[in-house]
Amino acid sequence: MPAATQPRPILNVAIIGVGEVAMTTHLPTLLLCSHLFRTLAIVDISRDALRHCAEKFHIPNTFEDVDEMLQKVPEVDVVMIMNANEYHAIHAVKCLEAGKHVFIEKPMAISHQDAQLIDSAREHADRIVFVGYMRRYATAFLRVKEIVTSLTKGQINYVKVRDIIGQNAFFVDESGTFPRQFADFPKSASEERRQLSKEIHSRALGDKADSPRDIMTWALLTGLASHDLSALRELIGMPKSVLAATRSPSGLFLTVLFEYEGFCCHYEMGVDSVKQFDAHIEIFTQDSHIRVNYDTPYIKGLPITATVISTKSNGDHVEENIRPTFKDAYTLEYEAMYGAIVDGDPVKTDAKDADKDLEIFDMIMERLVDLC
Ligand SMILES: NC(=O)c1ccc[n+]([C@@H]2O[C@H](COP(=O)([O-])OP(=O)(O)OC[C@H]3O[C@@H](n4cnc5c(N)ncnc54)[C@H](O)[C@@H]3O)[C@@H](O)[C@H]2O)c1
Repeated sequence: MPAATQPRPILNVAIIGVGEVAMTTHLPTLLLCSHLFRTLAIVDISRDALRHCAEKFHIPNTFEDVDEMLQKVPEVDVVMIMNANEYHAIHAVKCLEAGKHVFIEKPMAISHQDAQLIDSAREHADRIVFVGYMRRYATAFLRVKEIVTSLTKGQINYVKVRDIIGQNAFFVDESGTFPRQFADFPKSASEERRQLSKEIHSRALGDKADSPRDIMTWALLTGLASHDLSALRELIGMPKSVLAATRSPSGLFLTVLFEYEGFCCHYEMGVDSVKQFDAHIEIFTQDSHIRVNYDTPYIKGLPITATVISTKSNGDHVEENIRPTFKDAYTLEYEAMYGAIVDGDPVKTDAKDADKDLEIFDMIMERLVDLC
């Protein structure tokens, strides 16, 4: 008789910050992954958000304070941090010190010092830190990576990365997930966050922290560009330098020319009022164009695809559209996180990895030129 398979453990989850991304993607995905995760507790500074999410997603414990959650629900295995960016490092360190595994939405940290604090706490606690770069877990991305990894040195002619997207609200409003916004924070919370933001930005940006435009650019880089540039790093590594970087008068569009060994990469990003999500990474070799195409993550089930265009040795022009799965990138990242916690699989989007993005942002800030 074949040996009976052991039942797989279900991991207990707590979430810090039940705002837009929690309501549109994480809480629904956790419910659908109930064979892997059980959401036991949520923490937020908005009581209304707690009440709404606890009822809608059937969560038994709500807290306004992270320490109280850690103390009162000791059976939590993994804490998922998706609140205001300024609190990511403070809460990650607290949870690691309490012996929890930690998932952190991007940006993991907005300064190197914070990234390093998180990594030291992880090392000390011997727990995992998993950064929510879900685009890097998409199967189509991994297919592109397989192709790019098989290229030999000198084969890449050029790389182009685009992330020009409409405002989040366009997609969230049509996502069918009906998130709500709440603003019943204690007054002291806004002041505390403002102060924290000032401190972190002065650590991250030095003199530039006095410039609201530079702070806005840092927010775009850490918020949106971190998705693109971390995926780019996984495909082709760190750039050697930034040859040029521009910022539009509105501050909402950035372009960057990265130098790599033997080729350059042009990155263009921006947020506008067109209801389109135009995000891709394309690698050009002499006989093929290899591309991963992303759509908005707010609509569950929109496929992430790969396209390979090539000219065969017999002269045929071939266009291959690859859609390995309809499984969304959040579910795939959850499966990877489960594998890391339960089976000890390596985490590719860990704290050291996320710190590399901050290095690239520093390089961009150094070269940034304003267009007038
Ligand atoms: N992976 C992705 O594609 C993706 C998409 C959107 C957002 N995000 C990230 O997720 C995080 C949250 O984004 P959002 O759009 O949901 O923001 P949001 O402002 O809608 O939600 C944040 C929530 O955190 C709560 N909060 C703020 N400070 C807190 C504190 N000190 N303690 C507890 N709760 C606190 C707020 O009350 C709010 O409910 C951000 O880090 C963002 O960059 C990632």
